[in-house]
Amino acid sequence: MTAQAKIKASFPVRRMDFGFKDVPKYWFANDPFLTHFLTSLSSLFPEGEFFFVTSMRNIRDQIDDPVMQKEISAFIGQEAMHSKEHKAFNDYATAHGIDVDYMHRRVGKLLKFGHKILSHKQQLAITCGLEHFTATIANQLMRREDINGLMIDPMMRKMWLWHAVEESEHKSVCYDAYQHLYKNGYGTRATFMALAWSILALVLVEQQVRLMAKDKQLLNISSWRRGMWTLFGYKGFLSELALPLLDYFRPGFHPEDHFSDDMEAKYKALLKFDN
Ligand SMILES: [Fe+2]
Ligand SMILES: [Fe+2]
Repeated sequence: MTAQAKIKASFPVRRMDFGFKDVPKYWFANDPFLTHFLTSLSSLFPEGEFFFVTSMRNIRDQIDDPVMQKEISAFIGQEAMHSKEHKAFNDYATAHGIDVDYMHRRVGKLLKFGHKILSHKQQLAITCGLEHFTATIANQLMRREDINGLMIDPMMRKMWLWHAVEESEHKSVCYDAYQHLYKNGYGTRATFMALAWSILALVLVEQQVRLMAKDKQLLNISSWRRGMWTLFGYKGFLSELALPLLDYFRPGFHPEDHFSDDMEAKYKALLKFDN
């Protein structure tokens, strides 16, 4: 065995196959708004994660560090598995009358356009920004048991927590590759983070309204109120994340500054992962 073959990534690629069936229509908190919010996020993952993987494949030949190469391979493996399982869920949701295809197609077109017109550095900067977003949400989802416990379907809860554990495990890979290649890349990293988040926010708002309207829940005021309070109210799921998200704009920022090892260990044990 060569020395390089002996090097292992710091996290594994786990093969999953959830085989969704009998998922309740409102599997998150028995609530249309909250369920559609997570379904909306799920609909973005297959194309989004393909973009992340492509932006890493673009630059990996320029990285001669064998440890970093192993980390990149494991990152690609984890993201490919996330895409596969979220696509399986999205197909299940579509078959049950939830229209996730529309935004999936539009986001796919937008990201393909991004691949065409943006440099490899800019694409990687977008990936770093969105990876910080997913890692921050993941850490919060694991920490807020009062919220992840609202997922009334055990399979759905397992999928989201598995994804959260792995987003935490690989949260530094893209950022380290970016820093390795573009040491003075703060301006691009911050600019494309702001751009990516702005587009993501618009997409999520549009998709929330569409999914609620298609489900004839647009005028369900109590669901809107509950959902908005859960996300943006006092100690809301997202309102608590303002500072950790904005920390990305600090010049000396590193993803490992945001501790999540305790949550990874807790949920790996809970989900019975052996590595
Ligand atoms: Fe992922
Ligand atoms: Fe990720």
